[in-house]
Amino acid sequence: MHKDFFVVANWKMNKNSAETKAYLHELSGLLARCSFRVLKSKRVVLCVPFTSLSVLVECKELPYLSELCVGAQNCHFSGSGAFTGEISANMLVSSGVDYVILGHSERRILFGETDEFISRKVSACLNCGLKVILCVGEDSSERKSGKTADVIKRQIDSVLVQLEENRISDLIVAYEPVWAIGAGISASLAEVNEVAGFIDNILKSYCTLSSKSVPKVIYGGSVSKRNVKDIAHLSGIDGVLVGRASLNCREFVDILSAI
Ligand code: 13P
Repeated sequence: MHKDFFVVANWKMNKNSAETKAYLHELSGLLARCSFRVLKSKRVVLCVPFTSLSVLVECKELPYLSELCVGAQNCHFSGSGAFTGEISANMLVSSGVDYVILGHSERRILFGETDEFISRKVSACLNCGLKVILCVGEDSSERKSGKTADVIKRQIDSVLVQLEENRISDLIVAYEPVWAIGAGISASLAEVNEVAGFIDNILKSYCTLSSKSVPKVIYGGSVSKRNVKDIAHLSGIDGVLVGRASLNCREFVDILSAI
């Protein structure tokens, strides 16, 4: 597996700080028993709840965890102000955060986040030096009615038209078909490959100066230790975004070991 293959864990709203600490101690112990290969070939990002960020930053001192990247799951686009309950990009950076997930379908569907709102968040985070994992994907009715390509193009265009080309390389696009999230069955390899290729073509159309700035494309939706190897070998896929299977430390290490 090539360097910079992403394995991103999205814990969603799971684990308090004590549980986070226990997980990270277990992770350190399990990795000590794995071969060198398991961590070296990948970029592992843990996207934890806001309340667990400081624990994650502290636990990077533990053996084998120094290269873990710290991720958050949301961010507001304003620098500061009267936005009760929100967190700014600067607050994340100053807390030691490297990556942030934006545009997750749970935020689009459950919290009414629009393309325009997400686009403002992406710009604010990139401008502050965060790397952004932008989630895109169609729901089952959009897929059934043949609208997958239109939906994904709209979601990506709304973000990329706002960005200077030199900011685009800090973006990672996660293809997460809504119907595969938490479903127990991922999209088929052919479906993932087809949409990843489509996404890559859209991204390339925005990267006219250098092909090096084309964002990586990763896949999320029921990734597990059973299917991760096949997904990781798809030529258009540079990583995986893992929800439920990342919550169990042993299972997450099995995923890391499988690729
Ligand atoms: P599951 O891996 O639980 O399907 O969740 C995927 C996801 O939403 C990651 O962001």
